[in-house]
Amino acid sequence: MPRLVPEPYRIKVVEPIRQTTQAERLSLLSAAGFNLFAVRSEDVYIDLLTDSGTGAMSDSQWAGLMVGDEAYAYCRNYFSLKDAISDIFGFRHFLPTHQGRAAEKVLFSAMLKPGDYVPSNTHFDTTHANIEAVGAHPVDLPIRQGLDPTSHFPFKGNMDVDGLLRLIEEVGADRIPLAMLTITNNSGGGQPVSLANVRAVKAVLAPYHIPLFIDACRYAENAYFIRQREAGCSDKTLSQIAAEVFALADGCTMSAKKDGLANMGGFLAMNDDRLFERAGQLLILWEGFLTYGGLAGRDLEAVARGLREALDERYLAHRIGQVSYLAQRLLDAGVPILEPPGGHAVYLDARRFLPHIPQEQLPGQALVVSLYLAGGIRAVEIGSVMFATKNRQTGEWKYPELELVRLAIPRRVYTQTHLDYVADMIIELNARRSDIRGMRFTYEPPFLRHFTARFEFV
Ligand code: F0G
Repeated sequence: MPRLVPEPYRIKVVEPIRQTTQAERLSLLSAAGFNLFAVRSEDVYIDLLTDSGTGAMSDSQWAGLMVGDEAYAYCRNYFSLKDAISDIFGFRHFLPTHQGRAAEKVLFSAMLKPGDYVPSNTHFDTTHANIEAVGAHPVDLPIRQGLDPTSHFPFKGNMDVDGLLRLIEEVGADRIPLAMLTITNNSGGGQPVSLANVRAVKAVLAPYHIPLFIDACRYAENAYFIRQREAGCSDKTLSQIAAEVFALADGCTMSAKKDGLANMGGFLAMNDDRLFERAGQLLILWEGFLTYGGLAGRDLEAVARGLREALDERYLAHRIGQVSYLAQRLLDAGVPILEPPGGHAVYLDARRFLPHIPQEQLPGQALVVSLYLAGGIRAVEIGSVMFATKNRQTGEWKYPELELVRLAIPRRVYTQTHLDYVADMIIELNARRSDIRGMRFTYEPPFLRHFTARFEFV
């Protein structure tokens, strides 16, 4: 078992959580149509639905709220954030947004036209949807190892550089206004992207003058993995690594709800003056004035401070250590998970966990429901409920390759005892997995169905 890095903080404020009985959970679940998105947070004991906006702020961040300057234009907190972004990311311009997807919408609306292509290692769902919303085509180019749940390749989040070159030759560089890299690669299991891969991608794009934008949500966790795993990087500081990564890019989108250690916030950053101007106009239309986006002054301050805290060595060692501790406990007990664990989450492999449940009976959903019933733990299904698609002509379903359940670990929120509880519950569940039954839809909304669908046991 990996040696544990203790929490590099002590606890000053506590938020009570309540355990329910199994009978209560069964009735809560049936009222919610067996959809965990419809369960009240207060009825969840350990909430691993997402690591987005769910982190605990530091005393410095809370203190920062009190120096929030709520002036409409050029409040002091805008300058704190500007300094933090310039120090860490090095881009010349930035626009605050209320969260990551707003930065995506502004960027794509300013840069894309219908029929364009945007390659990435793997686009996150909101990125994918925002590209399609302007009539362009998102293209995922993960490396082969990234699709193999048992491969131990150290940088499974990398982009397939040959695939990128082929795409450029196929559709033409003029149809690719930008390329992206998601670090870490959330949809690919929270796997890191190497500095060498960022360099290689940039080298392919440069002769065609295609700008590279980084989806920087988990930039600090990615920097930590580079330092641990990449040759020649072990002596660098995390700030140096982040600086090297972003020096290769022309801009970034950011959800500060992840490695910004804030509960809300984001930004779009870039070097290009003309893009800044165009995007700024759209920002004013959709989000707010150039210096606050969709945020209060106090939120800008919390993000500014959080971005710096996220690069703290000991914090990251503890955080990534927590994720790998949970993963290792599960592995030691023979629970099938995606390997190696990523930076922000452990992913259970529902197909191997519940081999007796065929994909059309939604094994991921069955596992999510069973986890809540067993221990009041909320996880998220990333499988057939989220991604299966129906062929309109034949009515036939196409099921995704991977049927996963994500246990996302909020930042600075749960202790080791909480994680041990989660591991114990999953290990117990694994021992009686043959009792778990499949599920079917009783209500299926036409799109983004996972949020509001309803289910029953088969
Ligand atoms: N990009 C990545 C890689 C993300 O993981 C997310 C959000 C976004 C963009 C969008 O940011 O939520 O602030 O608008 N991921 C959350 C998750 C929702 O649970 O993984 P947002």
